[in-house]
Parts: sequence; C-alpha cells; structure tokens
Amino acid sequence: MHFLIQVSRLAMKPVAKILTIGALSLGFVALPAQASTIVGSAEAGAKKNSMCIGCHGIPEYKTAFPVLYRVPKIAGQSEAYMVSALKAYKSGERSHPSMKAVSASLSDQDMADLAAFYAKPRK
Ligand code: HEC
Repeated sequence: MHFLIQVSRLAMKPVAKILTIGALSLGFVALPAQASTIVGSAEAGAKKNSMCIGCHGIPEYKTAFPVLYRVPKIAGQSEAYMVSALKAYKSGERSHPSMKAVSASLSDQDMADLAAFYAKPRK
C-alpha cells in the first residue's frame, strides 16, 4: 500500500499514471484473495529493529559474544523469505537459540514490518 501511495504522488508523468493505474488494477484484483494477508510496513519496521541491529547491523556480520560466530546479512533479503524464516524460528522448525528468543516476542505484524524494513534497498 505504501508503494501505491508513493506512486500516485509521482503521478505527474504519463508513464507514472500508467504505472499507477496498472498497480491499482492489480491491487483490486489481488485484494479479495488476500484480504487477511498482513502487509508489512518498512516505516513501522524501522522502529522495531532496535533488538536486531545489535547482531544484524554490525560490521562483518560477526558477533563477539558468547563465541565468535557469523550472523547472516539480512538487509536486502527477500521479504517473504525473512517472514518465513522468523516464523520458523518461532515455531522451532528452525533452531537457533538467539533467533528463537528474539522471534518468540514478535507478532506476525512485527515480522512483516521487520521484513519490509530489511528488504528495502538502502544506500
Ligand atoms: C543475538 C544475535 C541476534 C539477534 C538479536 C537477532 N538475530 Fe537474527 N540471526 C542471528 C543469527 C546468528 C542467525 C543465523 C541463525 C541460523 O544459523 O539459523 C540469524 C538469522 C536470522 C534470519 C534468517 C536469515 C537467513 O538468511 O536465513 C532472519 C530473517 C533474522 N535473523 C532476522 C532477525 C530480526 C528481524 C531480528 C530482530 C527482531 C533479529 N534477527 C535479531 C542473530 C541474531
């Protein structure tokens, strides 16, 4: 939805208008089927990531405690992939002590927001 709002703000050029109309008609087609789907918000995710940056935002993606281990780089990773990974840590399907503890406190909406935030390309 944020995408649509941004596109319509840009809708000065004909190309942007066509994109907007295209995106809107896609949206209308997709909505009934996904009415219950949670939509992630990168802005909301940016406010929820304070407990992630300690591990996922450090240089070289390594932690120093309790032992030196590598943390996967999640910035730029696919949104759907991150949501499913977080759900898998929460359910125990994936096991990792830190990620299990972290994901246990996340709601489905939190996961969607965080995934939207991390998926967003940054400079
Ligand atoms: C204590 C360090 C730590 C914290 C805090 C942490 N993570 Fe992780 N995270 C890891 C490690 C280590 C892995 C790799 C675990 C494994 O091998 O399965 C991981 C894996 C992941 C993955 C899967 C990556 C992949 O490529 O499969 C996602 C997504 C993720 N973390 C998101 C988050 C989010 C979102 C937060 C904040 C809510 C967070 N993590 C907080 C250490 C951390």
